[in-house]
Amino acid sequence: MFQAVLFDLDGVITDTAEYHFLAWEKLAQEIGIKIDREFNENLKGVSREESLRRILEHGGKENDYTAEEFAAMAKLKNDNYVEMIQAVSPKDIYPGILQLLQDLRGQGIKIALASASKNGPFLLDQMQLTDYFDAIADPAKVAASKPAPDIFIAAAEGVGVDVSQAIGIEDAYSGIAAIKAAKVLPIGVGKAEVLGTDIALVESTEMLTFEYLKKIWEINH
Ligand code: BG6
Ligand code: MG
Repeated sequence: MFQAVLFDLDGVITDTAEYHFLAWEKLAQEIGIKIDREFNENLKGVSREESLRRILEHGGKENDYTAEEFAAMAKLKNDNYVEMIQAVSPKDIYPGILQLLQDLRGQGIKIALASASKNGPFLLDQMQLTDYFDAIADPAKVAASKPAPDIFIAAAEGVGVDVSQAIGIEDAYSGIAAIKAAKVLPIGVGKAEVLGTDIALVESTEMLTFEYLKKIWEINH
C-alpha cells in the first residue's frame, strides 16, 4: 500500500488555476498579447517566471523587456492574483478533497504539498487545510521547477517516504511529467487530450476517493 500522497494545489485542491489564468490574461492584455485557455494549458504547473517567459514568447515580445521590467510584470501579475485569492475559504475546496484528506489521515498515510506556487501555504490556511499536511515542499528551494521532478522528490522527502511508495495528483501536463520523472505514481485530474492516455485519470476530484487511490495503486503493483 502507498505511504504518501503528494498533492498539487492549483486546479487539484481548489479552482485557483482559473485565477492564475485570469491574472495572466490581464497582464498579457496590458502588454498587447492575447492568451486563451488552450494556450493556458502550457502555463499550468509552470513557475511564475517561466509562465511570463512563455507568454512573452507567445506574443513575439521575448526580447522587448529588461530584467527589471520582467520582474515588475511578474510582480504585477502576482499582486493581482493575491488580491483575487483573498476571498478563498473552506467552501472553495473542490468536491471530495476534504474527505480524501480525512481518510488518508485516518489510514496513517502521509500528506504533502508539491505545488509550484509560493502562495500555496497562504491558500491552505485560507481553506483551513494546513493541519492535514505533514509537509509543504518549498518551491523557492528546489533547483528546477515542473516538469522537473524536484518538487515531488522534495515533497516525498519532506514526509520521509520513498518516491516508489507515493502517489502524486496533478491537473497540469507539466505536473504529470514531473510526477513521472520523480518515479511517483501519477493520477491526473483532467482530460486525456491534455494529460495523456497512459495514466489514471479522473474527470472530477469527486472521484478521488481513498478506495479509488487504493485501486489504482493495486493495478500498478
Ligand atoms: C502553479 C500554477 O501551481 O504555481 C501556475 O499552476 C503558477 O499557474 C505557479 O504559475 C507559480 O505560482 P505563484 O503563485 O508562485 O506565482
Ligand atoms: Mg495545478
